[in-house]
Amino acid sequence: MGVEVAVEGLSKSFGNQAIWRDVTLTLPSGEVSVLLGPSGTGKSVFLKCLIGLLKPEKGRVVINGVDLCSCPERDLYEIRKLFGVLFQDGALFGSMSIFDNVAFPLREHTKKSEKEIRDIVMSKMDMVGMLGAEMKLPGEISGGMRKRAGLARALVLDPQIILCDEPDSGLDPVRTAYLSQLLIDLNAQIDATILIVTHNINVARTVPDNLGMLFRKELVMFGPREVLLTSEEPVVEQFLNGRRLGPIGMSEEKDQAQMAQERAHVEAGHSDGALDEDLRGVVPQLEPTPGLPPRDAARRRRQRVMQILHTLPESAQHGILASLSRDDYERYQEWRRRTTGMPMPSSPTATLPREQTQVSQQLPTRPASRAGQPTQQVQRPPQQRPAAPPQPQQAPPTRPRPRPWRREEGQ
Ligand SMILES: Nc1ncnc2c1ncn2[C@@H]1O[C@H](COP(=O)(O)OP(=O)(O)OP(=O)(O)O)[C@@H](O)[C@H]1O
Ligand SMILES: [Mg+2]
Repeated sequence: MGVEVAVEGLSKSFGNQAIWRDVTLTLPSGEVSVLLGPSGTGKSVFLKCLIGLLKPEKGRVVINGVDLCSCPERDLYEIRKLFGVLFQDGALFGSMSIFDNVAFPLREHTKKSEKEIRDIVMSKMDMVGMLGAEMKLPGEISGGMRKRAGLARALVLDPQIILCDEPDSGLDPVRTAYLSQLLIDLNAQIDATILIVTHNINVARTVPDNLGMLFRKELVMFGPREVLLTSEEPVVEQFLNGRRLGPIGMSEEKDQAQMAQERAHVEAGHSDGALDEDLRGVVPQLEPTPGLPPRDAARRRRQRVMQILHTLPESAQHGILASLSRDDYERYQEWRRRTTGMPMPSSPTATLPREQTQVSQQLPTRPASRAGQPTQQVQRPPQQRPAAPPQPQQAPPTRPRPRPWRREEGQ
């Protein structure tokens, strides 16, 4: 199983240039997380701090009880073996064949025979669709292929923590869709903790359990994906929709005068680059390819998130409740009533689980559109919908007593 990575009060600067301050977040063990942020906000620097390649001035990165920022070099060396890292530029050795590049960590860190190494390398090359390119040099393959080779190399040691810096950059949309599925399948198979940095909104919407964003030298938010996907923060809204209008400019920040000018242009009918559709809102998360085991992390995450649900913004609560099965919904409802005493979120349609009724297909998990018109987010209907199930408030008399939510932990 993957291991938890706890980041506490981390700050990093280069000389007098502060990159980010006081970043605190936890990558829950085995869960998939995505970190977003405009170019130059320090996402790559953050990943390098997580593996101890860069030293932050303040804070801790704790893995298995060891603080990477202050531990001796030999502990750092051991902890690094838990990681598989895909660097933003691929970081392949230019004079080595792709095969030797991918085999490098195995030759460096294990005593495996060349036959074993060959088997592992070829299976990872196959996984990333690179069979046939083993003997080429990095300079002889495309940028997207170098990315995939870098990913194969990140996977050869069966890492417990996988960091991917823009794994999709340079990939066409189809390869990106395959890559998203590959990461989810990998997670189902090895339960590794995964952190992905990406600018690809599709990946951010469909792959992770948790989503975060860096902006203006701070972590704007980090938490269950539904929180960021339904957020009304201007910077999040702008980023998810890829619009010019908003706090992010070509250089990181905009002044008020430029904001006002851009708003006037948009009001006069000039496009700000976004599609008409508002891309916020909770869409179904990718599931492992049929035939693979379900993701253990998804089950653990459900337990974790349901216990903090009442502390999340209502729009995020709606998004999460809408994704529950009817049984889970009822168990949660009962657990919440008994342990927190708090009522369920107010909107009656918003709290219906997806399988409940046709109404649930119109769950307002997407915030109001930017024109101020309420948009009705139509969630993809589930594959199988039970016939005429009861409303959540009207439990059938024969309903078994719901189990407390917490008892599920560790099952
Ligand atoms: N080794 C270094 N020495 C000095 N400054 C650095 C170093 N590495 C990164 N920086 C600076 O830190 C800032 C953040 O860089 P980083 O590469 O982390 O951005 P990013 O968010 O990954 O951007 P992008 O989305 O374009 O990849 C930049 O201003 C960069 O110039
Ligand atoms: Mg980067």
